[in-house]
Amino acid sequence: MIRIYIIGAGVIGRYHAEAVRKLSVEEPVLLKVADPNQQTLSVFQEAFPEAEAYADAGVMLSEAAKEDDIVIIGTPPFTHFELSRMALKSGRHVLCEKPLVMNGKEAEELLELAKRQNRMLGCCSDRFLGLSKTEEVKQLLLSQTLGNLYKVTFVYRNQRSRAGVEYQPESKWFLDRVKSGGGILMDWGPYDFTVLNDLLNPEAIEVVAAWTSQPVTEIDPADITYDVEGHVGAMLQYCLPEGKKVWVQYERASCTHGEPYHHVELEGTMGAVKWSPYFETDEVVFKQDKEGQVNTQESLIAHNSPYTVMDHPIYYFYRKVRGLDSRATINEQAVFNLQCLQAIYDCAETGLSQTVSMLSRNELVSFPCK
Ligand SMILES: NC(=O)c1ccc[n+]([C@@H]2O[C@H](COP(=O)([O-])OP(=O)(O)OC[C@H]3O[C@@H](n4cnc5c(N)ncnc54)[C@H](O)[C@@H]3O)[C@@H](O)[C@H]2O)c1
Repeated sequence: MIRIYIIGAGVIGRYHAEAVRKLSVEEPVLLKVADPNQQTLSVFQEAFPEAEAYADAGVMLSEAAKEDDIVIIGTPPFTHFELSRMALKSGRHVLCEKPLVMNGKEAEELLELAKRQNRMLGCCSDRFLGLSKTEEVKQLLLSQTLGNLYKVTFVYRNQRSRAGVEYQPESKWFLDRVKSGGGILMDWGPYDFTVLNDLLNPEAIEVVAAWTSQPVTEIDPADITYDVEGHVGAMLQYCLPEGKKVWVQYERASCTHGEPYHHVELEGTMGAVKWSPYFETDEVVFKQDKEGQVNTQESLIAHNSPYTVMDHPIYYFYRKVRGLDSRATINEQAVFNLQCLQAIYDCAETGLSQTVSMLSRNELVSFPCK
């Protein structure tokens, strides 16, 4: 029997509880949940009467820890650091929602604590890892079918999909930087850089240029704090093993007056592959040259698994805790992924290039790829 503790009974807490139900096929689970909002807790309890409910997370975690206990943090980002710290100190493994924490410094501190406690620190930004279509793209990359990779385009532009405005309007914390850590980059960037870093496996990244903007609409909330970006862009250089370098053009918008589109593509000297790492399509489009002409192969690669992307974080983390083969994003990798976002914000704010290295994640060194 494994014990799983969910902190935060809101929207994502309920998704995790659904996933925990599926996990019961692997092994019996004892589920507990904590949320100070009585109404939210009642809604959760109605849907998941099997869960033991608490108003206070500290009280829930005060019982003696067992070796394989897992705590899922499903609260707004400004609470992730303190709650993860409390859960690690209670002697339990921690799987935290994205973004892992509010900034790079907090991420470093949590990792140190996790190491001291000999516990794992995971991030739910691994939700989209392991999808069959993206694994196919990875195979094309690893088998050198694309030749030398030199350019990655990762662009997602939506015109009106701001969390806290058009999406989940009841959760206003998304719009306040002090509570969310940022806008669209903190909301979807964790997934983007988890997918990118899983594919490319960089030793370091350099954010060479970056910008953020907050496009204005006539329904912008005026009575609450709304100070997060709706549009962000960056040019990054990825430093891969064996001294290889790849340019990554990154862009994300939850609000723009420009054209909406998405374009995710890897370009190499021998071929290019385009696909959607998320929901839009299962199509993988591979292009190469045939006798001087562009030859296009399109495949539909559906993902057939009882576990959906919303189930993945706890499913992967559970497997990691059990020592099984797993796609979980944990420890140094989870911290590195968060620091890529921090580096984009820092570059946009200072105008200076920023570097994050897997080896010395704390250092901001100029031009490490050279
Ligand atoms: N909503 C989504 O579709 C979605 C998807 C993926 C990830 N996430 C991530 O999940 C996290 C939570 O988002 P959400 O949409 O579920 O928010 P939400 O507003 O629906 O729920 C958050 C819950 O956390 C509770 N909470 C706050 N402080 C707490 C504390 N100290 N102890 C216990 N509970 C506490 C609140 O009372 C609230 O019920 C965020 O990091 C978000 O980025 C959300």
